[in-house]
Amino acid sequence: MLIRKYFSQFLVLLCLAAAAAAQAQNLPNVVILATGGTIAGTGATTTTTTVGYTAAKVGVDALIAAVPELKKVANVRGEQTMQIASENMNNDAWLKLAKRVNTLLAQSDVDGIVITHGTDTIEETAYFLDLVVKSKKPVVIVGAMRPSTAISADGPINLYNAVLLAGSKEAIGKGVLVTLNDQINAGREVTKTNTSTLDTFKTPELGFLGYIQGSKPFFYRQSTRKNTADTPFDIMNLDKLPQVDIVYGYANMNPIALNAFVAAGAQGIIHAGVGDGSLNNTVVPSLTEARKKGVVIVRASRVGQGIVARNGEADDDKLDFVVSDTLNAQKARILLMLALTKTTDTKEIQKMFWEY
Ligand code: SIN
Repeated sequence: MLIRKYFSQFLVLLCLAAAAAAQAQNLPNVVILATGGTIAGTGATTTTTTVGYTAAKVGVDALIAAVPELKKVANVRGEQTMQIASENMNNDAWLKLAKRVNTLLAQSDVDGIVITHGTDTIEETAYFLDLVVKSKKPVVIVGAMRPSTAISADGPINLYNAVLLAGSKEAIGKGVLVTLNDQINAGREVTKTNTSTLDTFKTPELGFLGYIQGSKPFFYRQSTRKNTADTPFDIMNLDKLPQVDIVYGYANMNPIALNAFVAAGAQGIIHAGVGDGSLNNTVVPSLTEARKKGVVIVRASRVGQGIVARNGEADDDKLDFVVSDTLNAQKARILLMLALTKTTDTKEIQKMFWEY
């Protein structure tokens, strides 16, 4: 009698285990690459929200353990790729991260990647990966504005949404995506617009790609620019990127920083000009001189929205300058670095700025 009772309990457990295994088999396999940021931050009290906490403290396993709901939407595993506040992100870290993403996505047992990241430079990492990842599988970058210890921390729900998105059919072929605050943005277009609020990430004027609602992604539009597998940029054999620096336009501008960047070996300069990328008379001789030395000059705008018109506020044909199209200065720097790994021909580089 007792044996029969234990046997039937054993059978029930076996069935439950089989059901769990079957469910796991039907779920997408998502790898979470953790890089640090506020999503992994801790504060002294629960009311330490956007000020006074320390970023990049919590490890990837603890981040995953804090959201048991992840198990219902994906088979998740984590890797601690780095543990930094994203103001310390740099070219070397990007190369390391991009190589890992490409290696993982080439595996048949990986369906999507989530990258946890500080919000300060999320838009730059997203655009870099958008240009160098060689797969149509989803790559989703996620952060949080409040540390993990805060009252109403936004990290857990953002991570849940990111895993959901990375495992979804809808996100395939959409380029590298950024999700926070239930919204989905394109890596090329997204920018941080507020120092501290939860709705800081926007694609000004063009708008979000979509939303996540009721544990489902909804897409309404798509970036028309080529990305991921449709770009020529291959970083797998690179261990360094060309030096490209940014100079910022302002009233009473002088060429001191520009000249210093060129003297320090910059191969490219992004000039974040006023208005439609206008150049102060004080910097035109230095920019012209730098171009003659082979430095590629890209006119961007500090405005943050709109197209910088070629041959508009400067005679780009005569000066042999490039315009940034709609890319802000920090994203223009990324495209120029990658363009310089392929060519120094400014006509080719201009084409890239209109294509990617
Ligand atoms: C960071 O970018 O690492 C700090 C700020 C944040 O993640 O919100």
